[in-house]
Amino acid sequence: MIITALNLKKHDIKKIAELIYLVDHDTYLDVFKHKDKAISAIEELLKIKANIDGNKDDEDINNDTNSEYVLLKGNEIKGYLQISKGKSHNYFNEILFLLKKLPLSIAYGFIKIKLLDSFVLSKIKEDDFYLAELAIIPNEQNKGFGTFLLNETLKMAKEENFKRVVLDVKISNKNARKLYEKLGFKIFNKRTGRLFNKNRGMYNMEYNL
Ligand SMILES: CC(C)(COP(=O)(O)OP(=O)(O)OC[C@H]1O[C@@H](n2cnc3c(N)ncnc32)[C@H](O)[C@@H]1OP(=O)(O)O)[C@@H](O)C(=O)NCCC(=O)NCCS
Repeated sequence: MIITALNLKKHDIKKIAELIYLVDHDTYLDVFKHKDKAISAIEELLKIKANIDGNKDDEDINNDTNSEYVLLKGNEIKGYLQISKGKSHNYFNEILFLLKKLPLSIAYGFIKIKLLDSFVLSKIKEDDFYLAELAIIPNEQNKGFGTFLLNETLKMAKEENFKRVVLDVKISNKNARKLYEKLGFKIFNKRTGRLFNKNRGMYNMEYNL
């Protein structure tokens, strides 16, 4: 099994979009109204990113500039991981990017999600290593792939002298929380928000290195 930088010119964009959808499927469903619509909106966003930075060659997980990775077994994508090192969420810039690059109807959906996120995601400090997204393809879940990706993430954060690894998990996502707790993550905050008539709640979790 290897972890490699996501290369949008090479890896299957639809598969990656499906994995990203899985991370927060009920919010995507709520915003885009249909699973296929949500996945094609994510694909659209990925294609734009591919045109911006898809010219890079494969780089391994230690490369500083990359924050998205795939877990491969042979040539098959088994999982997706997104991390960010010491950077707090810049919702303003992210929203500006969406408005500039995407058709308004799709941009509006992602902006809604960003606004919802701003109420519930962890506040990241400079010496935090943030695990933003993690997903394993459905028929390969519960076979140890998630544990492998998490352990590699912890190793990388430790090697790079970060003080803690932070992640957010939906209050309703008991399976993921169980896994994080098994690996030593602890809840340090609970954030809930209500926007567009929807409640959203997250546990903010940390692992002190
Ligand atoms: C959460 C997720 C990343 C875990 O990866 P995974 O490869 O399935 O997990 P692993 O096989 O490494 O670990 C299994 C452990 O995770 C938990 N778990 C994962 N899937 C589970 C399931 N379907 N039922 C019960 N527990 C489950 C349990 O704690 C289990 O340990 P146990 O068997 O000792 O009880 C994966 O299930 C997934 O992609 N889910 C959908 C997307 C998602 O929720 N992402 C996390 C967002 S914060």
